[in-house]
Amino acid sequence: MKAQRVLLVLAALAVAAGIVRTLACGVGHSAGSDAAKGASLSSGEEDQYYAFLSGGRSGSVFVAGIPSGRLIREIPVFEPRAAYGYASNEGDPRRDELRSSGGLWGDTHQPALSETGGACDGRYLFIDDLANARLGRVRLDTFETDRIARIPNLQGAHGIAVVPPDTRYIVVNGEFEQPTDGAADSPEPYTSVVAFVDPETMETKFEVRVPGNAVMADASRDGRFVFSTISNLEQGRDSISMMQFDRDAVAAIDVPAAEKAAISGKASVRNGVPVLELADSAGVLTLIPVPKNPQGINVTPDGRYAIAAGRLSPTVTVIDARTLQIVAEPEVGPGPLATTFDDRGNAYTSLYVGSEIVEWNIARAVRGASDYVVGRVPVHYNVGSLQATRDASAHPRGEYLLALNTSSKDRYLPVGPETPQNFELIDISGEQMKMLGSFPTLPEPQGVELVAARILAPKVRQTLEPPPDAVQAGHELVVRTGPRSVTVQMTAIHSVFTPDHFEVREGDRVTFRLTNVETMRDRIHGFGLPDHDLHVSLPPGATRTITIDAGRPGVYWYYCTHFCGVLHPEMRGRMIVHPQNAMVALSDWRPAPR
Ligand code: CUA
Repeated sequence: MKAQRVLLVLAALAVAAGIVRTLACGVGHSAGSDAAKGASLSSGEEDQYYAFLSGGRSGSVFVAGIPSGRLIREIPVFEPRAAYGYASNEGDPRRDELRSSGGLWGDTHQPALSETGGACDGRYLFIDDLANARLGRVRLDTFETDRIARIPNLQGAHGIAVVPPDTRYIVVNGEFEQPTDGAADSPEPYTSVVAFVDPETMETKFEVRVPGNAVMADASRDGRFVFSTISNLEQGRDSISMMQFDRDAVAAIDVPAAEKAAISGKASVRNGVPVLELADSAGVLTLIPVPKNPQGINVTPDGRYAIAAGRLSPTVTVIDARTLQIVAEPEVGPGPLATTFDDRGNAYTSLYVGSEIVEWNIARAVRGASDYVVGRVPVHYNVGSLQATRDASAHPRGEYLLALNTSSKDRYLPVGPETPQNFELIDISGEQMKMLGSFPTLPEPQGVELVAARILAPKVRQTLEPPPDAVQAGHELVVRTGPRSVTVQMTAIHSVFTPDHFEVREGDRVTFRLTNVETMRDRIHGFGLPDHDLHVSLPPGATRTITIDAGRPGVYWYYCTHFCGVLHPEMRGRMIVHPQNAMVALSDWRPAPR
């Protein structure tokens, strides 16, 4: 009897513990849905989605797993980063490319994923640099930046978009208007351009001039129209005069018509790029009047509507994406900035001023019904961009929504005068939105793209294909290529650098070609050289070429910077620098035949 009572008590405790755990995890609604699992994943469990968050003034892209919110990678694009050996050394060609294209910092805003046949193809992530009018391309098989391109005739590269269904162009919007001729004393009104960039060559094929600041962009599903929000239709040059009109515009650019006009010689050529001027853009450019200094423009998954967020108006404007007519202008709340979608006909708009996400039904709003708002959820705080889970822009999944917040105020432990930026994860799979969790992030996410792990993960490489100039094991060498120059071809494999020492003279220029000859995933080696401002990080298969000055006479240990195995502390070697006048004969070196 007593034993029975004990069992009953234990059973009751187990049930209670279960309930407590359920509440703690935020589970207990929309049973059976994956989204209901919320933000908690155990160690070893993989996420369902990759989130690519633009790093704003960090000049990079952050990769987080969703729903856990765990930060799994940083991809440096417009800023050098020693941790990844990315453009971090003088003499690195990638550093030269950054410097010559605009500088060693960037302000990344809007990521965009390449598509084939209207589906995410896992090839590229494109990301803009607002500060220096650049477009970066990241390879998604290696998560590495592979191209940087400067966009001519454009300042303030803000919104970008992929033209579906096969990524015909990457559209880049110019937010900072300029005199057409670029002359400082020009009496002309300031204007801006929307650039059309080839995704393979990264060349700007043509540009379409617009009368104002081109902010965000999206394209119709069939690739016919590109939509750009235009604030400052007033063409004002200070903030007060930029806010005079109650309506600015959405620019709808007819892509086939623009291509035709650009190749027909109608365009003026500026810095090598055909630019369709305002006077010549009849049949190409349509300005749709929308309130007021609009921000986001987002095309619905079915391609029927383009939705502009009012920013200085509490409304969103629903535009028919084929006829370009305005079909509804529902009020959603203060400071709407961007809109995303689920797979059930609902839109979700971020309200910066209201610090909330509003869910509203598109069909009901278009019909003029009064009950179009489905629900609201507060976010913390001042949400800018947002994105719901999707396989591609035409294929929403309706599980999670990421809200990118510009301030976290009271959400985390204080870390100085600046609070972390953060994003919040919201479950949108049920009848009502449900806040799942909040995740601090580095400065400062401005935009986010999501892709299902089942689409992207199989395309990610385990090792790199060795480039043609890779150093092969057994072919290492130290060779004097001139009176003051030395080339060192070196390999790295656990736990040796070959050669493990070499001698040079003060004043020599030393060119390292370094190859990590490992063939196993994650066998990373770093190469750090004290007092020479030199560090490269080498994933398996990677080759890097760096030239340095030999520096002052002495013995310098180069060492592996990644804890690569039990012999990691022994993975090092010496660069011996003799004084200029030392009576030593320095000879070439090759490994003994094996
Ligand atoms: Cu290689 Cu540590």
